[in-house]
Amino acid sequence: MPEKQPIGIFDSGYGGLTVFRSIADLLPGYDYVYLGDNARAPYGNRSFNTIHQYTWECVQMLFGMGCPLVILACNTSSAKALRTIQQRDLLNEEPWKRVLGVIRPTAEVIGNYSGTKEIGVLGTKGTVQSGSYLIEINNFFPGVKVYQQACPLWVPLVENGEYDKPGADYFVGKYLDQILAQSGKIDTLLLACTHYPLLADKIKAHLPAGIRVVSQGGIVAESLKDYLERHPEMEQRITRNAGRRFYTTSDDTTDFDQHASMFFGEPVNSEFIPLK
Ligand code: DGL
Repeated sequence: MPEKQPIGIFDSGYGGLTVFRSIADLLPGYDYVYLGDNARAPYGNRSFNTIHQYTWECVQMLFGMGCPLVILACNTSSAKALRTIQQRDLLNEEPWKRVLGVIRPTAEVIGNYSGTKEIGVLGTKGTVQSGSYLIEINNFFPGVKVYQQACPLWVPLVENGEYDKPGADYFVGKYLDQILAQSGKIDTLLLACTHYPLLADKIKAHLPAGIRVVSQGGIVAESLKDYLERHPEMEQRITRNAGRRFYTTSDDTTDFDQHASMFFGEPVNSEFIPLK
């Protein structure tokens, strides 16, 4: 057995660090490896096949580093690649390893947040077009109405450090107005993209009173804790030295570290891992 068997956390780039932050806070004792595919990010507007191919390649890199369990912290990958990975790739190639996403754990609880039972989901074009949140939320909460809005300019705003600048206000307001125009009864807005928590203050400032904004980091962390409790055979495979390593597929690790510290809320020292 390899000496270190960390939990792998994957995202297309920096954004998954908002999810990793919550996981590391709730479950600090485990070893973790984070991999951001910054060389090919963003994934949000890419095709189903491309997102699956990129995601599976990165998951295999994490498996190669000893991870028996990988969390797809990316909504776009969870929406467009997870099912194929779980139902085909793992069965064919890595039957003892597991890959989990962020959509199902969120869908399992989000209906409880809403009093009106009308929820708005904000995500990338890929996440919205996949319809994954509609399907999953309706599985767990058949009476809940789900409205969706793609916000394609929010990821670039965050990645370019504009998330707290006045210039972001226009595009924050634009997509919020579009989703609220779909129904006057929406009382819960889900930030279904790793980057959007950085815009949460501006989002809240734009919304009328009574609308709750939900980020998914805490939800995913609680769900992982529950998963490990229910799967002792997996939990026992994860090593516990509170280790954290960060890898990026971009050769500009200085740039990664600067952005990553903003998303993770503490200094990050990454290493470059080239794509094959
Ligand atoms: N990580 C992606 C998500 O959560 C956003 C960034 C991207 O488009 O790659 O959907």
